[in-house]
Amino acid sequence: MTPRPPRAVPRTIREMRLARPRHRHVGAKSSGNPLREGLRLERVPDPCALVLFGATGDLAHRKVVPALYQLWRTHLLPHEFVLLAFGRRPYTDDAFRDELHAALVTYSRVQPIDERAWRQFSERIIYQRGDFDDPASYDALAARLDTLDRERGTSGNRLFYLATQPSAFAEIIAQLGRVGLDHEVHGAGWRRIIIEKPFGRDLDSAIRLNREVGKVFRERQVYRIDHYLGKETVRNLLVFRFGNGIFEPIWNRRYVDHVQITVAESIGVENRGQFYEETGASRDVLQNHLLQLLSLVAMEPPTAFEADALRNEKVKVLGAIAEMSPAEVGRNVVRGQYGPGWVAAEEVRGYRQEPEVDPESETETFVAAKLEVDDWRWAGVPFYLRTGKRLPKRATEIAIQFKAVPHRLFRDAHSDPEPNLLAIRVQPDEGILLRFSSKVPGLGLDIRPVNMDFTYGSSFNVDSPDAYETLILDALLGDQSLFTRADEVEKAWGIVTPIIDAWVAQRRPPPFPNYEAGSWGPAEADELIGRDGRRWRRI
Ligand code: BG6
Repeated sequence: MTPRPPRAVPRTIREMRLARPRHRHVGAKSSGNPLREGLRLERVPDPCALVLFGATGDLAHRKVVPALYQLWRTHLLPHEFVLLAFGRRPYTDDAFRDELHAALVTYSRVQPIDERAWRQFSERIIYQRGDFDDPASYDALAARLDTLDRERGTSGNRLFYLATQPSAFAEIIAQLGRVGLDHEVHGAGWRRIIIEKPFGRDLDSAIRLNREVGKVFRERQVYRIDHYLGKETVRNLLVFRFGNGIFEPIWNRRYVDHVQITVAESIGVENRGQFYEETGASRDVLQNHLLQLLSLVAMEPPTAFEADALRNEKVKVLGAIAEMSPAEVGRNVVRGQYGPGWVAAEEVRGYRQEPEVDPESETETFVAAKLEVDDWRWAGVPFYLRTGKRLPKRATEIAIQFKAVPHRLFRDAHSDPEPNLLAIRVQPDEGILLRFSSKVPGLGLDIRPVNMDFTYGSSFNVDSPDAYETLILDALLGDQSLFTRADEVEKAWGIVTPIIDAWVAQRRPPPFPNYEAGSWGPAEADELIGRDGRRWRRI
């Protein structure tokens, strides 16, 4: 028999994009809904300038610039593209480009650097010195952008990217408004703004910031980033739920016993002690990443695959989570802080010994919470959420634990069948696992759980893009689906703020540190779920 030719490896969307001809000099007009047009896979953004505030900072070097370079390298940026880096420190264009090149060598997900692509890309990087609170800097910025439109063909399209300290957001936005850089004059190009997290530090400050943003930009121009929404596996959650017929009918309180969502990190606070002291795990991860994952798991199917339809459904989920009273916070939320310990065979210091951290700090580096989504689909199904630093490993997972079978047919077997489990591994080792019971081969009746396991690595022979590549490209294309809307951010703060307030109001400080680095968090977190007769999944 002649051997069959090997089957073509399934191609991902991005691979198909890569197979496209090189840069098109397009200014393709869209009807405003690229997803419905079916054009999304084919499109390269319009010619444009991306103005990066905080260009000399850590986020720009680690994430934003590597993502832009990668988009350029894979022909997903327009030929007429300019990265206008706005920062306080003085640099020549060349000195700044050299610094970014060094950052790429460290942070680019694809190595080695494609020097030819870098050369082309770096010609499009321009450094502009300026102070965030200096009106003259913005007059100069506006003039520079006009010049670039003429000289580099950027067509009046501008994406402002706020990668600065959050304390600078309101000032920059107001200054942009003052010089009219927000104005979309018909036919003269679009104006959009990306705002990094954290968006506010409680409900009141988020409302205030939304108000400041709203004085200058319209909501359709605003892209609030939660980078978890750009992760490949998180985007796949929508396809998994709504692109398959078999899961949705059982995705509710009749079949689901409970849901567990874990965002575990093995790293500590690294060099971000000062930031983290102000933030803590509840503001840093619970308010955004964990609640976003929860809303994607719990939302109803949207009527269209389009930004507002999606976000409407997520907002409804967040709105169905009741605000907790201080007594409920005491019962349903646990906070922790790591002490010294061992992680991955390395001895590590405790949080209070980290640089820039108060030796008596009461900031939480771990939080676990039990939430209920009080709607028709989920009434009575607990959602257990946990996140922490210096846990034994880095792992983000959504576990849907189904109920046991209603009738114990196999009660005489060696062991009862275990309830089914569906685990969505967001990172690392991305994939989806379904656990079900099976008879062990043999003459007796022995039942054991077995796994059906889909892994990205073996099914798709390509690397997933970084979340920032996905999100920046979407913002350049004008697709807000994976960005959070003003009301969504406020609803999420409406859940987290009462928790933080209850902690502040507590007279007795928590007995920190209360978990060892390298453990799965404080014993109270096990008690929280144990009281309901359940346990955290061992990941
Ligand atoms: C960020 C938090 O938003 O997310 C960090 O500020 C955290 O503290 C990070 O480490 C986790 O992101 P990822 O993509 O590494 O899971």
